[in-house]
Amino acid sequence: MGKVAIITGANQGLGFGLVEQLNAIYKAGDFIYLAVRRVAKGQEAIDSIIDKKAHFEAVFMDVSKEESVQAVMEYMAAKHGTVDLVISNAAQRMDKETPYRLQVAEFIQTNNMGAYHVLKHFQPLLTKKGRLIVVASGFGTLTHLTTKLHPLFATTERSMIDINRVMHEYVEEVKAGTDALKGWPKWINIPSKIGQVALVRIAAQKKKDAQAILAVCPGLVNTAASRPFFENMKHAQSPFQAAKSIIDLIDRSPDEINGKLMKFGEEISWQ
Ligand SMILES: NC(=O)c1ccc[n+]([C@@H]2O[C@H](COP(=O)([O-])OP(=O)(O)OC[C@H]3O[C@@H](n4cnc5c(N)ncnc54)[C@H](OP(=O)(O)O)[C@@H]3O)[C@@H](O)[C@H]2O)c1
Repeated sequence: MGKVAIITGANQGLGFGLVEQLNAIYKAGDFIYLAVRRVAKGQEAIDSIIDKKAHFEAVFMDVSKEESVQAVMEYMAAKHGTVDLVISNAAQRMDKETPYRLQVAEFIQTNNMGAYHVLKHFQPLLTKKGRLIVVASGFGTLTHLTTKLHPLFATTERSMIDINRVMHEYVEEVKAGTDALKGWPKWINIPSKIGQVALVRIAAQKKKDAQAILAVCPGLVNTAASRPFFENMKHAQSPFQAAKSIIDLIDRSPDEINGKLMKFGEEISWQ
């Protein structure tokens, strides 16, 4: 049977780089699903791949809505039964011009609840050697958070629902302007990425067989999301380059990657 992979937010940026890298190692009979919120853009992305090895399909998915993620899971379960590779990559961009209090709710709903929806619905569909990768960032560790907030992300004791509650409370703090008083970092991307990695650490405790659930940091990638924040993108990787070190992780043994945050093949320590 062919391999089956799904990548969220796959029509542009790193997501499309991941699609292209996967195409380079997949063969005829394998399937790559691009889960996108604009199917026409997903189809355009597919059409732009010159040397198609696998079979491609763009499927509608708004990761911020659980029913949307569940619908794709049910579609794929009916078609294939299991999935070999799931990459939760979709993310709402930070907007430099808009105050955080006005964008934080949608940001967390997409980036954190989106990762949660994918973990909840796709982890049970993984094959015995399946991989579920959440694209996070090197900011997603407790080293970027004041120690008094560390217990909120005590992943050995807490559930994914607990982490979701922490993130919703964080949203309310930012909206009320009380986040700094509580010790949260200024940049909303940091709590968000810590929340994503916390979800991965919890989900990874329940992995079965030779599966692995992991988070990754792609390093700086030249995309429409990162460009507004950096004057000089000379050292940024192209999405295709950045995707290589992530796709290379698929073949690593579960002991080396499960529950970890990986960057360029190495683990980044949680605290
Ligand atoms: N770029 C970097 O330097 C960098 C560094 C560290 C980590 N990362 C992480 O890498 C991932 C990809 O980032 P990127 O730079 O490639 O961003 P990007 O270019 O903005 O791409 C984000 C993708 O997510 C999609 N998306 C947004 N909201 C969605 C939703 N509700 N449902 C489904 N898809 C949705 C977008 O779709 P549309 O095309 O419809 O908008 C787009 O395809 C993110 O998790 C980001 O945090 C990036």
